[in-house]
Amino acid sequence: MSLPESIKRIYLIGLMGAGKSTVGQLLAEQLGWSFVDLDAEITSYAGLSVPRIFAEQGEKLFREYEAQVLRKTLTQQLTVVACGGGVVLDSENNKLLKQEMTIWLELSPDVAAIRLEQAEKRPLLAECEDTVAKLREILEARQTSYTDVAKIRVDTSAQTPEAIAKKIITELGTHG
Ligand code: S3P
Repeated sequence: MSLPESIKRIYLIGLMGAGKSTVGQLLAEQLGWSFVDLDAEITSYAGLSVPRIFAEQGEKLFREYEAQVLRKTLTQQLTVVACGGGVVLDSENNKLLKQEMTIWLELSPDVAAIRLEQAEKRPLLAECEDTVAKLREILEARQTSYTDVAKIRVDTSAQTPEAIAKKIITELGTHG
C-alpha cells in the first residue's frame, strides 16, 4: 500500500483510549513503515515508566521529555507516530504537528472510560473518582487544539482498529 509521496510521517493524536498505539502499529504494518510510540520513547529516554515519571519527576518534566521525543521523530521518514493524548498541551508541539499529517482519532469520554479499565497506567486518571467526568474535562481542555492541528478526523468509537487503519489509508490516498 503506498501513499502520496508528500506524506512522510503520520502522527496520531487524541484522547487516552482512542487506540493510537494499536491503530498506529496496524497502519505502519499495512504501509510497510516504521512505528514509534512517544510514550515508549519517553520511557526508554527517562529509564522510568510513565506513571513513575509523573510520580517521581512530575508532569512538567514528562511534558519536556514528550516535546523532546516528538522533535526527534521529525527527521524520520515513512514513520507512523502514536502521540500521548497530552501532546497538544504545548503550543510549540502544536506548531510542528500542524505542519505534519496529523490525524485525530476521536472518541467520546464515555467510551474512553470503558476502555480505560487499567487506569493505573494513566497517571492523570489514577486518583479520580469519576473517570468519565475527568475525561470530559480533559477533552474539553484539548478539543480546540486537536481540531486545530488535525488534517483528518476519524471517529473510533464504534470501529475496530483494523477498520480505522483501513479508513485512514483510504482518506490519505486522496491527500496530495
Ligand atoms: C496522557 C496520555 C498518555 C500518557 C500520559 C499522559 C495525557 O498517553 O502520555 O499518561 O495527558 O492524555 P495515551 O494517550 O497513549 O494514553
